[in-house]
Amino acid sequence: MEIKYIFDNAKDLVDKEVNLNGWIRNHRPQKEFGFIDFSDGTCFKHLQIVYDNTLINFLDVSKLLVGSSISVEGTLVKSSGNQEHEVKAKSITILDSCPSDFPIQAKRHTKEFLRENAYLRARTNMFQAVFRVRSLAAQGIHKYFGDNGYIYFNAPIITASDCEGAGEMFQVTTLDLDKIARSGKVDYDKDFFGKLTGLTVSGQLEAETYALAFSKVYTFGPTFRAENSNTKTHMAEFWMIEPEIAFCDLFGLMDIEEEMLKYVIKYVMDNAADEIEFLDKFVENGLKEKLEKVVDSHFTRVTHEEVIKILKESNEKFEFTPEYGEDIAKEHEKYITEHFGGPVFIYNWPKDIKAFYMKQNDDGKTVGAVDLELPGVGELIGGSQREENYDKLVSRMKELGMNVDDMYWYVNLRKYGSCVHSGFGLGFERLIMYLTGMENIRDVIPYYRTPGNCEF
Ligand code: 4AD
Ligand code: MG
Repeated sequence: MEIKYIFDNAKDLVDKEVNLNGWIRNHRPQKEFGFIDFSDGTCFKHLQIVYDNTLINFLDVSKLLVGSSISVEGTLVKSSGNQEHEVKAKSITILDSCPSDFPIQAKRHTKEFLRENAYLRARTNMFQAVFRVRSLAAQGIHKYFGDNGYIYFNAPIITASDCEGAGEMFQVTTLDLDKIARSGKVDYDKDFFGKLTGLTVSGQLEAETYALAFSKVYTFGPTFRAENSNTKTHMAEFWMIEPEIAFCDLFGLMDIEEEMLKYVIKYVMDNAADEIEFLDKFVENGLKEKLEKVVDSHFTRVTHEEVIKILKESNEKFEFTPEYGEDIAKEHEKYITEHFGGPVFIYNWPKDIKAFYMKQNDDGKTVGAVDLELPGVGELIGGSQREENYDKLVSRMKELGMNVDDMYWYVNLRKYGSCVHSGFGLGFERLIMYLTGMENIRDVIPYYRTPGNCEF
């Protein structure tokens, strides 16, 4: 039986025989009896196992060490302690005894220590909560898009196009690098795909091709960026959700982002009440209230120009001076979200700091891009209305020195039944940071990939 089943059916199971498989999370032996804090991971809550000297193999209780896998037979009884129910054990069989040098003992470990032991950290309450929330958030996202008529589209992982044009693609090759080093020249015609290819930095361009067939599509998949920055919000491998919507402009896009985000937050709160309560207590005080407030709030919408004005007029001493026409720094994002006290959409960005595919505004200076900034996380979502005019798109690509011929399948979308369309990319791990209160992105993905780290 799974613990989840026992909790869900506790009323009917009281005084009945139960049997369980799982792990010892803590063990407090007394002289004639003892308590085991027991978990099988099927729900966030643990079950308490009590035994006394009538236990069939009572002499072995000293071997019931933290981390051991055990099989328990006993009776579910009403508890007089903190919990409603517990199991009075008749027999406890050790499946595999865990030595006392098991790193995850029943005490508080630092997040750094747990990061170094990432292959075991899912056995702690904190990471049980984080990864349950992660799983639920993914399900909530699929549910939102599914219920709203979107087609789930799988963008290719290996691609020849660098969507963001930032030169951050990991190369994919079967060429023998040692041989090339000796010969001194690379012939990509001889590479596996007959050309230079890499891991995708975004599935957007391919998603656009399907949006112009299905109207509404979304991706949800891994994304790779050889970004050599060691920050708390960047990794080389992360998951992104990228909806693309035909006949939708920049303002329609903001409506969708806001509705989707509120839906997912609510979905997680409804389905992970125990986890959120735990995270509120041990990770971010006020987490629950923060999430509840956001669901009921109206997200602020300001232009990039207004943001720079606010930053300039503030009396804040910034390390980087905010400038019209330039990107904003982390400290500016922080100031702006605190200034407005919640999520902020910043739209109409200077065109020179944004990607080639964004809708060129009539002012000739800005593009129809929108970033959603969240307190404590910074940029959660980046999106835009797409340039749907063939000539404008091609001339921008040429200006940026891009090879238009290679991208014929993308520009041709503007020739074969083009339409106003928009889309965004939501960084899944940054969402999990916001939902759990975890401050380092390395702690919301099972195995993180950052410069110099590919452990586990
Ligand atoms: O702003 P970005 O680069 O936008 C795009 O890739 C567009 N093609 C999306 C689209 O319109 N379909 O990335 C989108 C989001 C960011 O807002 C951020 O949340 C996340 O992806 N992100 C990262 N998350 C973790 N580590 C990194 N290195 C990330 N880079 C971006
Ligand atoms: Mg961005």
